[in-house]
Amino acid sequence: MKTIFNLDAPGRHATRFNLEEKIMESTPPLPENLARDGKTLLGIPDVPEVELVRHFIALSRKNYGVDNGMYPLGSCTMKYNPKIHEMLASLEGFTSIHPYQFLQDKESCEGIIEIMNELASMLATLTGMDAFSLQPASGAHGEFTGLLIMRDYLLSTQEGNKLHKNKIIVPDTAHGTNPASAAVCQFEIIELESGDDGLIDLGYLEAALEPGDVAGIMLTNPNTLGLFEQDILRITEMVHDAGGLCYYDGANLNGLCGLCRPGDMGFDIVHLNLHKTFSTPHGGGGPGAGPLGVKAFLAGFLVGSQGMDGMGNCSFDPKLEVDSRNVKVFHGNIGVLIRAYCYLKSLGFEGMRKSTKFAVFNANYLKKRVGNILNIPYDARCYHEFVANDEGFPNGITTEDIAKRMLDHGIHAPTIYFPLIVHGAMMIEPTETEDLSRLDGFVHVMKSIKEEARDNPDMVKDAPSTTPVSRLDQVKAARHPVLTVDDLKEMVKDEK
Ligand SMILES: Cc1ncc(COP(=O)(O)O)c(C=O)c1O
Repeated sequence: MKTIFNLDAPGRHATRFNLEEKIMESTPPLPENLARDGKTLLGIPDVPEVELVRHFIALSRKNYGVDNGMYPLGSCTMKYNPKIHEMLASLEGFTSIHPYQFLQDKESCEGIIEIMNELASMLATLTGMDAFSLQPASGAHGEFTGLLIMRDYLLSTQEGNKLHKNKIIVPDTAHGTNPASAAVCQFEIIELESGDDGLIDLGYLEAALEPGDVAGIMLTNPNTLGLFEQDILRITEMVHDAGGLCYYDGANLNGLCGLCRPGDMGFDIVHLNLHKTFSTPHGGGGPGAGPLGVKAFLAGFLVGSQGMDGMGNCSFDPKLEVDSRNVKVFHGNIGVLIRAYCYLKSLGFEGMRKSTKFAVFNANYLKKRVGNILNIPYDARCYHEFVANDEGFPNGITTEDIAKRMLDHGIHAPTIYFPLIVHGAMMIEPTETEDLSRLDGFVHVMKSIKEEARDNPDMVKDAPSTTPVSRLDQVKAARHPVLTVDDLKEMVKDEK
């Protein structure tokens, strides 16, 4: 246990310089700002420098990221994010800025204010919206904010303060945050069953709208099967005709960005996951940003201090007074916003369009090539991702077994068992940043796993065998994570 969590051993320590001590009788003492005094290191574990370096390198090797290899985690858009954007977001002028500086020394913030305005304007152009707030911190947070706006708008169009239209339609392919956000905003949820082609069925939609109590619909397009809603113009028209609003979950914009705009499809409210499409990695618990765009008629309902006009004639308002419409303290996750700004500036709209085309092309290439290894239940032309499953795998090998075995082959597993409408789903999103050799490598791995499933099924069922830990009890790992030495002691005690 000590070797895992505690390398401290009294008497072993990294190099220390004593301020008073001369290195040799004839040398002068070291200048104070260069010398490291043993006393200032008190409280830090006694670990020799070489062991310290080995410790952190070993930890980094236990991790897997897109910098190690392919990460086809469907709907998460785990693409390579250029390191230069990290460097730019880390410039001291950005990292040392203080939110109160916007109030007390506004002139020194003019650069960042211009960046925020320009970013909002670029996002508005890309999505076909009129005004943007950069405040929400994630996709789900954007949904929450957008639904509050929907609620406020509908209340403003009716008598009394009890909302008459209080239901939100969410297709059965939707990401779990959609119904969760709607429930948090006190809407009732109507789950819309998909048609046989995995798309919205207009007949089911009509029936759901019929009672006249629908506040709106939440859709992601392409949907989580990677399919474009062919009837999208009719869908948004039907919802509008029934007095509802249309919310676009932009988490899947990597499959559409620059090709087609949610605003033109009839959507009124849009959130974007900057931590997917726009150069910040998704997942890993880091900060995100879920900017929210609205059509002009909703601009007055946009969250407080961050209301911005995508048409370039409204300015980032740096006021910080408490405002009931704010959904976040201060100005949002500025580091993520800067990365998105740099990404859009470096690619330009034409570059965005081209990268989206590669994302779509890569997904279709991969779908075609793995189509005779995995089962593809909705085998239509896809956008940035597609869904396969384990049907036809020999010896009872399941999606989970395949996903775990992929780790042994050096590829991160896809998103599994989602969307829920596909039994044993594997949602595969290669992204535009993988080249042909990586895509072919993926096909080779899937082929090998199918052969292993036939010839050596136990190996697949016991996978992974090359990772720092083998197959975990996922529920226990999530509910009772072992994060401290005390947790570990508890676990060892329980296991005895
Ligand atoms: C389709 C879809 N919608 C919404 C979200 C929620 O985004 P976030 O994780 O930033 O809250 C996700 C996240 O993966 C998603 O895939």
